[in-house]
Amino acid sequence: MARILLGVTGGIAAYKACTLTRLLVRAGHDVLPVLTAGAERFVAAETFHALARKSPQGPYPHLERADLLVVAPLTANTLARLAHGLADDVLTEAALAHDGPLLVAPAMNVRMWQHPATQANVALLRERGVEILGPAEGELAEGESGAGRMVEPEEIVARVAEIVGAAAPPGPLAGRSLLVSAGGTREPLDAVRYVGNRSSGRMGVALAEEARARGADVTLLAANLAVPAPAGVTVVETPTAADLEREALARGGSDVIVMAAAVADYTPSQPVRGKRPKDAEPWTVALEPTADVLAALGSARRPGQVLVGFAAEGGENGLDRAKAKRVAKKADLVVYNDVSRGDIGFDADENEVVVVSQTGERSVPKAPKREIAAAILDEVERLLSKT
Ligand SMILES: Cc1cc2nc3c(=O)[nH]c(=O)nc-3n(C[C@H](O)[C@H](O)[C@H](O)COP(=O)(O)O)c2cc1C
Repeated sequence: MARILLGVTGGIAAYKACTLTRLLVRAGHDVLPVLTAGAERFVAAETFHALARKSPQGPYPHLERADLLVVAPLTANTLARLAHGLADDVLTEAALAHDGPLLVAPAMNVRMWQHPATQANVALLRERGVEILGPAEGELAEGESGAGRMVEPEEIVARVAEIVGAAAPPGPLAGRSLLVSAGGTREPLDAVRYVGNRSSGRMGVALAEEARARGADVTLLAANLAVPAPAGVTVVETPTAADLEREALARGGSDVIVMAAAVADYTPSQPVRGKRPKDAEPWTVALEPTADVLAALGSARRPGQVLVGFAAEGGENGLDRAKAKRVAKKADLVVYNDVSRGDIGFDADENEVVVVSQTGERSVPKAPKREIAAAILDEVERLLSKT
């Protein structure tokens, strides 16, 4: 798995870059699409952002770090701009800021490809170590034929695998299956209303992303996420506590299970069929307890498996309750976060936790959730190394 910046430029073959994005994501890569204005005349940027589950963020989108820059299709125009080091849009700026390998797949009319100016630019790029795939010979979209077709997306994906496979060492969680739940379940009151909670899923998503970066085979149980799921993980939608219970128990054999979702403790006993019409009468709802998924996983656990729960507690005895929860649920770790604080935890970008294990507690100071995820997975790796 690698972080790939995918440049798409303004040729007919831009539509093929949609397939390329899908294949790269399916292969487990983290894909950041960057379209030129020319490309957007052919395909919408939103299509790529949806396929990659990513959109450019922050004030410096051209400074995103990546293991590999791929430009496919590459127009004659952008080929010339890359050869001469121009930086007049986000893609060419990113290309100048990129210090890793560059793989390009030119696509253009055969006469444009054969023009001495284009061939001189191709030679310049080759001299600088840029890898040029194609163009392939064949019938061109405009009806002419010759060298000018973009090579097929599958060929590009295969070459990407070779380039990044050689570069990236396998992560510490390579070969391990990791199940993580994220978000907050919603328990139906009727066909349109629900009882829910404020969990956004950021913490679980950060855990999934970090585990994937460490090489794990990650399945994410997604309960109404407010943030996009990371690339390269298998996503299973689990909107209600019952869905989450069913899907988690079906995957109870995973090497590592991290239950980070806020699963409803209570669910309406008798949800109303259809939408309850508004009237002047009070609406009294009886709630019944849901199944305890963490406890069920703890009872069924197999030797060598690592089980992690979360305790969203508040107040003075919160940490003590988290410690008791770890023992009661037969979990290896319980991550305690104080939900009485507004600046961390639920629906916040940062968190501050205490990781409770059998041997003690580790306080992780306030940090972005990805860093908290890294600290939790360090503990998981420590436990795995003992088995
Ligand atoms: C219908 C149509 C198809 C085009 N196809 C290509 C193409 O396949 N390759 C190419 O180099 N230019 C092609 N062009 C020209 C580019 O769109 C044009 O040079 C544009 O400025 C490229 O901008 P970009 O490189 O910033 O994306 C095409 C133009 C039109 C109108």
